[in-house]
Amino acid sequence: MNITDIIKMRKSVRSFSGTPLNAQQIALINQAIADSKSPFGGDYIIKLASVEAELSFKPSTYGVITNAKDFLLMGVGDTEHSALSAGYAMEQVVLKATEMGLGTCWIAATFKKSIFERVAAFPDATPLKIISPIGESAQKRSFMEKFTRFAVGANNRKPFDKLFFAGNFTTSLSPDNQFGQPLEMMRLAPSSTNSQPWRALVVDNRVDFYYKSRGMVSVLDMGIGLCHFNLAAQAVGLNGKFAPISDPIEAPDKWVYLTSFTLQ
Ligand SMILES: Cc1cc2nc3c(=O)[nH]c(=O)nc-3n(C[C@H](O)[C@H](O)[C@H](O)COP(=O)(O)O)c2cc1C
Repeated sequence: MNITDIIKMRKSVRSFSGTPLNAQQIALINQAIADSKSPFGGDYIIKLASVEAELSFKPSTYGVITNAKDFLLMGVGDTEHSALSAGYAMEQVVLKATEMGLGTCWIAATFKKSIFERVAAFPDATPLKIISPIGESAQKRSFMEKFTRFAVGANNRKPFDKLFFAGNFTTSLSPDNQFGQPLEMMRLAPSSTNSQPWRALVVDNRVDFYYKSRGMVSVLDMGIGLCHFNLAAQAVGLNGKFAPISDPIEAPDKWVYLTSFTLQ
C-alpha cells in the first residue's frame, strides 16, 4: 500500500473489538516507534502498553473510547519543538498501525492520567501528555463514536483553495502545483477537534508553513500535518529540508509562521 492510500484510509477509531494486540503486532508497532524520527528536535518519548482501562473510557476532553486494550502513550517536553516533534513522530506510528489494519485515535490534554501512568513511568522533563488506543476496530461504531464524529464534523475538511496559496495570500494554489499532492495529504491529517490549523504559501521551490493558533495543541497538529506532507513529498521524489526563513511575509487572520520546506 502506498502512503497516499494509507493516509486516505486513516480515520480515528473509538470503538474497539476488545482483542488485545498479538505478539507480532506488538513487535511491529515497537519497531515503528523505534524507526520514527523528527527533524525538529525537542523532547518526546513514545511507548506501547496494555492498559486495564474501563470498558468505556471517557477522556476529559471529548469522545468515548470503548473496549480498547492497548495504548500508545506519549511523553512530551514543554517546548514548541517538542510538541512539533511529538506530532511528527507519533503520526508515523499511527500510519504504520493504519497500514496494519489497526485503529487509533489521538487524545491530547487532560485525560485521566493515573491509569496510564501506572503502567509506564515518564520522566519529569517529558510528562505523559498524549495517548491513543490502538487495536482491532469493533465491527460497528458505538453510538457515542458516531455522535463525536458528528459533533466535531470529523468527515469535513476545509477546501484546498482556502488553505494553500501561491506567491501571496490572495492567490489560491493550484492542486496541479508540484506540492499539490503533499499538501492534499496534509489537508487530510487528523487534528484536535478537527480544527485543521495548517496553512501554506508556495514560493517557487519552497513552501512556507503557517498555522491558525489555538495554543500548543495547534503546534502538535502541525507536526502531524507536516509528517503527512513530507512522507507524500518523498513518495513523489520531492526531497527537501525543513528550516525557518528569516523574512516570512505577514499572513492574514493572525496565522503564525512556523517553518519552511525547501527543495534540495
Ligand atoms: C492532537 C489531537 C487531539 C485529539 N484529541 C481527541 C480527544 O480528546 N477525543 C477524541 O475523541 N478525539 C480526539 N482527536 C481526534 C480528532 O477529533 C479527529 O482526528 C478529527 O475529528 C478528524 O477525524 P479523523 O481523525 O477521523 O479524520 C484528537 C486528534 C488530535 C490530532
